[in-house]
Amino acid sequence: MLKITGEIEVSPDKSISHRALMISAISEGTSRIKNFLNADDCISTMNCLKNLGIDITNKKDEVIVRGKGLKLQEPKKVLDAGNSGTTVRLLSGILAGQEFITKITGDESLSRRPMKRIVEPLERMGANINTNNGCLPIEIKGGNLKPINYESKISSAQLKSCVLLAGLYADNITGFTEPEKSRDHTERMLKNFGAEVFVNWNTVSVRGKAKLRATDVFVPGDISSAAFFIVAAAIVKNSKLKIKNVGINSTRVGIVDVLRRMGSHLSIENKKEVGNEPMGDIIIESSDLISTEIKKEEIPFLIDEIPVIAVAATQSNGITKITGAKELRVKETDRLSAISTELKKMGADITELEDGLIIKGPTKLKGATVNSYKDHRIAMSLAIASLVAEGNTEIIDKECVNISFPEFWNILGKITK
Ligand code: S3P
Repeated sequence: MLKITGEIEVSPDKSISHRALMISAISEGTSRIKNFLNADDCISTMNCLKNLGIDITNKKDEVIVRGKGLKLQEPKKVLDAGNSGTTVRLLSGILAGQEFITKITGDESLSRRPMKRIVEPLERMGANINTNNGCLPIEIKGGNLKPINYESKISSAQLKSCVLLAGLYADNITGFTEPEKSRDHTERMLKNFGAEVFVNWNTVSVRGKAKLRATDVFVPGDISSAAFFIVAAAIVKNSKLKIKNVGINSTRVGIVDVLRRMGSHLSIENKKEVGNEPMGDIIIESSDLISTEIKKEEIPFLIDEIPVIAVAATQSNGITKITGAKELRVKETDRLSAISTELKKMGADITELEDGLIIKGPTKLKGATVNSYKDHRIAMSLAIASLVAEGNTEIIDKECVNISFPEFWNILGKITK
């Protein structure tokens, strides 16, 4: 019988890697980023910044960014954000503060994703923006921003970060409030680089005309990547896995709370804080799981983990209900539709709701040919489902894991005994 065992590290955090590049770029002086995520999405950010005149050296053990201060150089060509929503949305905040015109495109998936959410606050701050019906390509003419207090209808760290980064270019204080608090890496990092940031749970403000100072950044392991192996060890009988140096920022650990509620044996050891971000070793053992309910308030803390939580739910006793997760429909693919369609092909009992999923378990899954829709998190979730399925599973376009976790297949091979 197959089991999951060993001691591993997972890929560095994607959200923090993007932010480290962008915030270093607009700081004064040289920043070194250790344990940077060299995956497609973060390389898209790196290339965009190079085209904006930033000198970046990507060495084996660190990335060196020679920051230019808030003012960047007009790019000679259209910027390409590839598959990365974080690249376009965060960078747009910075570009709204520049006195030149920038055009950004992306791949087919990114070109379908909504950009109106960033256009609205940035235009209120004074930027001029053209889109293709609210989608990419986007053209930003920035400069002369004024501060706003933005009340967002959606909880989104990308949108919050966009507004805060633009706020660095405005006079006085720019504020952002969201219904539920989203991941707070931007706030933490801006403080490290010397910005004045005020946090009152789901309201964050920043003082503009900031002078950021270069700082070194260490990027912890990505809990959203660890999530796949955490669920693998939770659902494959007789498993025990240690994942070292994982970021355990309280705005990211929803998966840990959910799995504990489901009865999994999970502990965190060796906790420490590196550069204002907490990190620890996660130890997980298999156990009998029970169903749970996940509601809107919890969604931002586990937004990227829902597809793999759905896989865990297929192996849990009872009915798991996830609601308030409409945002999943506008990720790299419609993740609610993708995960329910593909897990159904493997025999799961799943019903798609407009804003969530209902999953009845436990089900003995069977191998099938399934589609990743070129979405890295769908591909990895289906790979974890295949570990508890009878027979072979083939995942179409499985190389899309390179977007966030190039080592995924390698590590999976090593811990599967
Ligand atoms: C991210 C925020 C989340 C998340 C994405 C990365 C970030 O998106 O899904 O993978 O780095 O800020 P939203 O802010 O759009 O929810």
